[in-house]
Amino acid sequence: MAPAFPQTKSIYAIENRFAIPQKEALKRALVGKRLSQVRTPALVVKRKVVEENCKRLGDIAKKAGVKLRCHIKTHKTVEGTELQLVLGDTDAIIVSTLAEANLVIHSHLTEQGILKDAGIPSCVLLGLAPTPDKLDEIIELSKKVDKFQLMIDHVSSLDAVEQFLMDYEKSHGERKKLSTFLKVECGNHRAGVPINYPASLELARRLVASEYVNVTGVYTHAGHSYAARNSQELLTYLQAERDDAVNFKKYLADNGVHIEGVSIGATPTSMATGIATTQIEGVTEIHAGNYLFFDRQQCATGMVTPADCAVSVLARVASQYPDRNTLLLDAGGLAFSKDTTPQGGYADIVEYPHWRLNMISQEHGIVSEIAEGDYATATVGSLVHCIPNHACLTCAAYEYYIVVGEDENVVEDIWVPVRGW
Ligand SMILES: Cc1ncc(COP(=O)(O)O)c(C=O)c1O
Repeated sequence: MAPAFPQTKSIYAIENRFAIPQKEALKRALVGKRLSQVRTPALVVKRKVVEENCKRLGDIAKKAGVKLRCHIKTHKTVEGTELQLVLGDTDAIIVSTLAEANLVIHSHLTEQGILKDAGIPSCVLLGLAPTPDKLDEIIELSKKVDKFQLMIDHVSSLDAVEQFLMDYEKSHGERKKLSTFLKVECGNHRAGVPINYPASLELARRLVASEYVNVTGVYTHAGHSYAARNSQELLTYLQAERDDAVNFKKYLADNGVHIEGVSIGATPTSMATGIATTQIEGVTEIHAGNYLFFDRQQCATGMVTPADCAVSVLARVASQYPDRNTLLLDAGGLAFSKDTTPQGGYADIVEYPHWRLNMISQEHGIVSEIAEGDYATATVGSLVHCIPNHACLTCAAYEYYIVVGEDENVVEDIWVPVRGW
């Protein structure tokens, strides 16, 4: 039976291209080379800092007595996912695209049982409500894992999922069930049902009663906590998010709808659980993604410093303009993204902290506030490391990442992220 809603495919399903073919060739060409031999702009990942960051949030979750669920959208790689899971001592992930789902489902993480959730092997949670055109691919993927989880926050999504699974049952003689979180809005104004609202209760009732889905928990995402500027503000965001999620679960229970799990997070509120005392009572898990890399936006919350930032854009000085006291970098909007931060500008320049990268266009980065002596050291062709504003968007610009280890000047590995949707 043809699906009622026209179905679309990601390139990974069209081409059956689940391997990452470039990695080995890139490794042969680049591993062992010094950074001065690398084409710029390049995205450099400090493996040791990633490891520390992964362990740090894992320890915070453990101390708080909650599970950690890692989002892989920041890096979109198998290697990064493995560090998040193993060093964070956890088993559960979130993906933001079906391309990411394809990547991890066809990786050794699934084969070796590193990826699971609450003891159930190979679980993948798609962190964005599924549009009806993607259900065919979701069902195909769900056959390859023990549990494929969705995020639902509108009755139309549930209608589409149920209709699709009903049709599937008719044509295949087999009932498939998907797991879902009920996504709840907690001040971020991005996605999720409003709390304490009759239509939200009705959706929760439908989800719990559905013969085609199992409900894992309620899920909030405090993206607005990026506005915090110190630990007190971080704790206030955490408290508010926790209260919204836990009180919503109670409101549902008071109305006869029982949902077990409470998942809260975003990097700032998840990190804040490390300094909280009673704030997270009733929470069963925290989720976060950016924390493995961190960036200037996270530094602005006061929770971390530039030394905790694991990624930088490696750029070269392309020209000097002493008459107007500026320099040109070979990295612009496409290398950094145009996301902003309270600190202003588009990056911190590690070697010259007083420089200001305040102007970028597609390929040009214009640095100002150059000190007199800098023109002699920052000659054309010299390298600088630039810590970006928002690692997630910056990483998305790169076909591959240069990974450095003990010697931060030498390429140790290459990570190839999955691209597209
Ligand atoms: C649904 C969901 N969960 C978790 C996260 C992780 O948030 P962060 O990157 O702030 O850690 C995101 C990020 O956008 C998200 O969309």
